[in-house]
Amino acid sequence: MKAKIEELVAEIQQFTTQSEKEIEEFRIRFLGSKGLLKQLFGEFKTVEPAQKKEIGQALNDLRSKASSKVEELKEALSADSTESKKYGDLTRPGLPVELGARHPISIVKNRIVDVFSKIGFTVSEGPEIEDDWHNFTALNLPEYHPARDMQDTFFIEKNPDTLLRTHTSSVQIRYMESHKPPIRTISPGRVFRNEDISARAHCIFHQIEGLYIDTDVSFADLKQTLLYFTKEMFGKSKIRLRPSYFPFTEPSAEVDIYWGLETETDYKITKGTGWLEIMGCGMVDPNVLKNTKIDPEKYTGYAFGMGIERIAMLLYQIPDIRMFYENDIRFLEQFKSVI
Ligand code: PHE
Repeated sequence: MKAKIEELVAEIQQFTTQSEKEIEEFRIRFLGSKGLLKQLFGEFKTVEPAQKKEIGQALNDLRSKASSKVEELKEALSADSTESKKYGDLTRPGLPVELGARHPISIVKNRIVDVFSKIGFTVSEGPEIEDDWHNFTALNLPEYHPARDMQDTFFIEKNPDTLLRTHTSSVQIRYMESHKPPIRTISPGRVFRNEDISARAHCIFHQIEGLYIDTDVSFADLKQTLLYFTKEMFGKSKIRLRPSYFPFTEPSAEVDIYWGLETETDYKITKGTGWLEIMGCGMVDPNVLKNTKIDPEKYTGYAFGMGIERIAMLLYQIPDIRMFYENDIRFLEQFKSVI
């Protein structure tokens, strides 16, 4: 029995492998419930009393050698395949992560969306390439209507007309065509107008327009919503509505907020009046409701629309609209801290 144990000790010492399967086979052969050690301990009963001590020690030694071997091989195997082998020293300092900044137009758009989501408006979007119906005709601007000139249009094709949308009111038409009142939606998006580029105007800009249609919607509801918006957005709670004209709303108004005249910039941006125009609005013209198969006898609604660049210029005191589109890192980086 002694010789057998020695033989096995030698075998254990020599054994080496990198295969998980072979380690497991080795473990079962020596240490398994029907393994060699089990057998040998069974035979131990027959060992002569004088030899019991020596053989007993040898058996215990054999068992611990076998199990250390299994541990050792397993460890070597896992060290091999661990992350450290794959990636090198995992405790070394990492590479710095460059943080980007959200574009100011996105920041302002998200803020406006948040303000209106709180009072139940959903966000709707539509195509930038539009047809005449959604951009003009359905909005109570039939062919040859003089108000079409208010928005210099980029046409893509004539007859039938395809064009770049001049406002996101087109999205509202699409929304009214596919949804029944009550409707509460805001439509942010990029719009296009054939205008000369200057510090104040660009041929591509962004709008966000709102639409609310239900029974008994009144001008008072519109005014209250605008007041809520200007408070949340600018922290200003004084507004005034000046009569205006849009073909798709009747009556129509221009919304001014009282910005104040505290600083020199206030003087500059409000041209010394303290008032700032921020958007157009009005009660949806019954013709627009009819065009989208909503009964104007039963439903009324209001709509409003504003330029996102204009709001961003006010909030961040940006002097030139062209800065939004130049992608100058020095400009964009200034918005890193704004979420
Ligand atoms: N669509 C108008 C524009 O682009 C804005 C507006 C929307 C005005 C809704 C009134 C109501 O100028």
